[in-house]
Amino acid sequence: MRKEIMAFSNKLVEYIFDGNFSQLAAIFQSDKLVIVTDENVFKLHSSKFEGFTTIQLPAGEEFKQQRTVDDIISKLLELEADKQTILVGVGGGVITDMTGYAASIYKRGIKLVQVPTSVLAMVDASVGGKNGVDVGPYKNMVGTVYQPDLLLFDYSFLDTLPEEEWVNGFAEIIKHACIKDADFFDFLSSKNLDDFRKDKTLLAALIEKNVAIKTTVVLKDEFETGDRKLLNFGHTIGHAIENIYQLPHGHAVSIGMLAACRISEEINNFSSIEKEKLANLLQRYHLPVEFSFDKENIWKILVMDKKRSNDSMSFILLDTIGKAVIKPIPLVQLKDLINQCL
Ligand SMILES: NC(=O)c1ccc[n+]([C@@H]2O[C@H](COP(=O)([O-])OP(=O)(O)OC[C@H]3O[C@@H](n4cnc5c(N)ncnc54)[C@H](O)[C@@H]3O)[C@@H](O)[C@H]2O)c1
Ligand SMILES: [Zn+2]
Repeated sequence: MRKEIMAFSNKLVEYIFDGNFSQLAAIFQSDKLVIVTDENVFKLHSSKFEGFTTIQLPAGEEFKQQRTVDDIISKLLELEADKQTILVGVGGGVITDMTGYAASIYKRGIKLVQVPTSVLAMVDASVGGKNGVDVGPYKNMVGTVYQPDLLLFDYSFLDTLPEEEWVNGFAEIIKHACIKDADFFDFLSSKNLDDFRKDKTLLAALIEKNVAIKTTVVLKDEFETGDRKLLNFGHTIGHAIENIYQLPHGHAVSIGMLAACRISEEINNFSSIEKEKLANLLQRYHLPVEFSFDKENIWKILVMDKKRSNDSMSFILLDTIGKAVIKPIPLVQLKDLINQCL
């Protein structure tokens, strides 16, 4: 077990790596804890939840909507949860996003603990305090930025994570390497998924590395006025295709990252050799690199994207692998680029 304290702008956040879920009962007064999880995680790890008050939600992105958060709030009222209640999100990114959001608005903010259980939630979603819900097909349209008091990493949850969810998580891991760390990109290129699934020490180091990359970016720009936007690499087009084609998030991000590389090649002197290196790495981790789209539909969703401002959209491009930049692209030019690069 390893502890770290991170100083965000208005909260100190404790990180416990290689911890154990049962520690929560020792850290907090048990009767003040309310766990939020989904039915998959609950069923697969039911013994861990014994003795805790638990709210079970249906699993899946389609339930990441305001009405599910309203259900959490109704349950909290039924349980007579007060300002001393500690809400604990135990699950993948859907659960940590909704639990963070509920904790930030219930009684104008109660304590929050996040226990991510998917690779994606461990390396990305649970870190940095962004939370929220989708509105119909539009991803993450409503939410807040609200840091947890504690982020607890218990790697034993990953023993039950299906293969395809490992793959999804690696899309965000590769994203971190692309935007910030060329050496890490090369390291990933020398390994494969099974190396990390079989070797707990290697896995623990991988998760800590990604949490460090994301935390460093967020600490510089918690409320996303600049550098934090880099974490959206691959996500602008990724979210659009995820919504239309109901692709898994990681798959959509994989295709989105390659599309962003092609745009980078066109307007940012990004090298085609590096684009090929990325395509090879994505394939190495079983992520898709090709998909056929209805470009008109993608465009409609894109212009609704919250990163749009006036007549241009800020887009994350690569200078090189390991160095991302934010570029505003005029909408007229972007439309042509989408037609050319998708
Ligand atoms: N807030 C942020 O900064 C941020 C960053 C990235 C992604 N996200 C959000 O995260 C979500 C995606 O996260 P996700 O892929 O973890 O989604 P998810 O929560 O839907 O989990 C994926 C699937 O894995 C299951 N699962 C989770 N942990 C498991 C375990 N230990 N064993 C077996 N099954 C398990 C879930 O029940 C679900 O079926 C998206 O909604 C995305 O918008 C948020
Ligand atoms: Zn993502």
